[in-house]
Amino acid sequence: MKVGLLTGGGDCPGLNAVIRAVVQQVTNAGGECVGFLEGWRGIIKGNSRPLHVRETDEIIGLGGTILGSSRTNPFKNPDTDVPAVQKTFRDQGLDALVAIGGDDTLGVAYRLNEEYGMPTIGVPKTIDNDLSVTDFTFGFDTAINIVVDSVEKLRTTTASHRRIMVVETMGRHAGWIACFSGIAVGADYIMVPEVPVDIDHCCEVLKKRLDDGKNYAIVVVSEGAKMPNRKEITTSAETDAFGHVRLGGIGQVVAEMVEERLKRETRSVTLGHIQRGGPPSAYDRVLATRLGLAAGDLVIKKRYGTMVALSGTKIIETTLKAGVAASKTLDLTYYAEASAFFK
Ligand code: F6P
Repeated sequence: MKVGLLTGGGDCPGLNAVIRAVVQQVTNAGGECVGFLEGWRGIIKGNSRPLHVRETDEIIGLGGTILGSSRTNPFKNPDTDVPAVQKTFRDQGLDALVAIGGDDTLGVAYRLNEEYGMPTIGVPKTIDNDLSVTDFTFGFDTAINIVVDSVEKLRTTTASHRRIMVVETMGRHAGWIACFSGIAVGADYIMVPEVPVDIDHCCEVLKKRLDDGKNYAIVVVSEGAKMPNRKEITTSAETDAFGHVRLGGIGQVVAEMVEERLKRETRSVTLGHIQRGGPPSAYDRVLATRLGLAAGDLVIKKRYGTMVALSGTKIIETTLKAGVAASKTLDLTYYAEASAFFK
């Protein structure tokens, strides 16, 4: 049995832990693994490297992905790229392909299975935690811990200067990172894409806190948060191969509005890719390992067209179709709980 692996889309901590677990599981069953470099680009171009237990054994705590990643989409030029994927598959003598990625990467794995009968299996990943069926994705826990750590550093300088600090997080169109990290740092206000920004309410809450004697304030805003009846703020008009815009800039917009209304110095910090960097948290290492072992099991059982997922505390099998059907926006129960502090 020969199994291909690839990691696609935005990297996140825990990818290497999945690779390690799949390689171990497949090797335990007498099979061998090969890794394709830079996501779907690697399989289109036939760029790969062998993956053995010895070389992957120590990568559990390594951030990023040893295979590299890209946002290449074989369905952008399907007439040339899909046959190229099939050719590499044949040339390498593969029995299965494990795609580790978010909705875009898994969407490609789904279509290759559904439309071309390729034996694909998915492992969900993303710091954004916006994939359906799986309760939490690895990468998310590490990202929110990075935000918490960053805000604790920002807190001391913000307090020293009696400022208001607006911290912009990643998360694309889902407010999971902003909401969870905002709750965890006791933010004075949180803005998420699922709830239109109410700048007057935000300023009211901040003013009350400052009038009460707090001499600084922290606002956490998700990059996808929107002003009422306006689109998200982007840093570039270009879109990637999957049609995604590049979000960014809402933090500065909010900071300027708050400063103007409250007449209090307000700064913004965009945390950016630091949220995807460095070693995975212990939680993400364990989750990624469990998902990787389960994906290896699905390969051995020839359960193609499926995806592993976290349901409660259990790792379950679901279909790629269900996994990519819709993206999972923030459960507003969490936002309601956070809002108890914004009175
Ligand atoms: O999906 C993960 C993510 O980090 C989003 O939160 C963010 O909007 C996007 O990827 C950034 O992508 P890139 O690395 O291409 O700038």
